[in-house]
Amino acid sequence: MTRHFLALHDYTKAELDGLLTFAAELKVQQKSRTPHKLLDGKTVALIFEKASTRTRVSFEVGVFQLGGHGLFMSSANSQMGRGEPIKDTARVMSRYCDGVMIRTFGQEIVEEFARYSDIPVINGLTDLFHPCQIMADLQTVIEHKKNYEGLKFAWVGDGNNMANTWIEAAAICGFDLALACPAGYEPDAAVMAWANTKAPGRITLTTDPKVAVAGADVINTDVWASMGQEAEQKEREKAFNGYCLDDALLALAKPDCVVLHCLPAHRGEEISDSVIEGKNSVVWDEAENRLHIQKAIMATLIK
Ligand code: CP
Ligand code: NVA
Repeated sequence: MTRHFLALHDYTKAELDGLLTFAAELKVQQKSRTPHKLLDGKTVALIFEKASTRTRVSFEVGVFQLGGHGLFMSSANSQMGRGEPIKDTARVMSRYCDGVMIRTFGQEIVEEFARYSDIPVINGLTDLFHPCQIMADLQTVIEHKKNYEGLKFAWVGDGNNMANTWIEAAAICGFDLALACPAGYEPDAAVMAWANTKAPGRITLTTDPKVAVAGADVINTDVWASMGQEAEQKEREKAFNGYCLDDALLALAKPDCVVLHCLPAHRGEEISDSVIEGKNSVVWDEAENRLHIQKAIMATLIK
């Protein structure tokens, strides 16, 4: 059966830990220029229905380093943008390619694609989840903190795709996650319910960023208006007043905490310039690790 990477909840802790270990090995191989052509001669289609810098470049470079070919497609310049059904695109791509990454809107789009696909489908961000990013974030935390076990993770901001994926990661991997989201901007209710059943007591939700950040080892934030929500920017700026991860908020966390941001960042909104440029910020390692973890995911799934 074809295995996909659509959401963390399809994976066990042991499987996620295995991918993280593999990504660390691939990182060493890439840094030492040791050939690791695990996708020799393979083609991975990279389909984008939303903008991207990191995801596109890290997947394209990653496939190249694995000896394969990354084929960029945007919905605007393909028949997808003219209404060709997802299930038709999925079956056609399966005849040409060995794997596919999709960045799109609804999670149901990647799920439908996967249902009709004979090749592994990787979620490169939907409105609901961003699993490759959270895996890169975990790799970064392990690099800086040795392990994620026993750490307090904090989320400050929108209950968006990133927050939802952190909730799944906390429930599967077994770490404490304190989220602070304004009223009306909570994470997905079904994701919360699933996680609270799987790991009761691990995940807490408050409207007070100070409570979430207090004593945290890892703090993560993200934009207030995600892709597709641009028209809500002004009302979101009002709702998220007080949610900027600035020096005053950071001072409540552990002094050696690490600050994550998946990028792109809006300095002066969800994060201050001083924090993203400061000593606790690991955002450039985090961005780099997209490359390594995605290579591990592709090399594991694509046969
Ligand atoms: N973090 C992330 O997914 O960045 P891009 O939108 O640039 O791909
Ligand atoms: N939450 C953001 C993440 C971007 C990488 C968005 O969906 O736009």
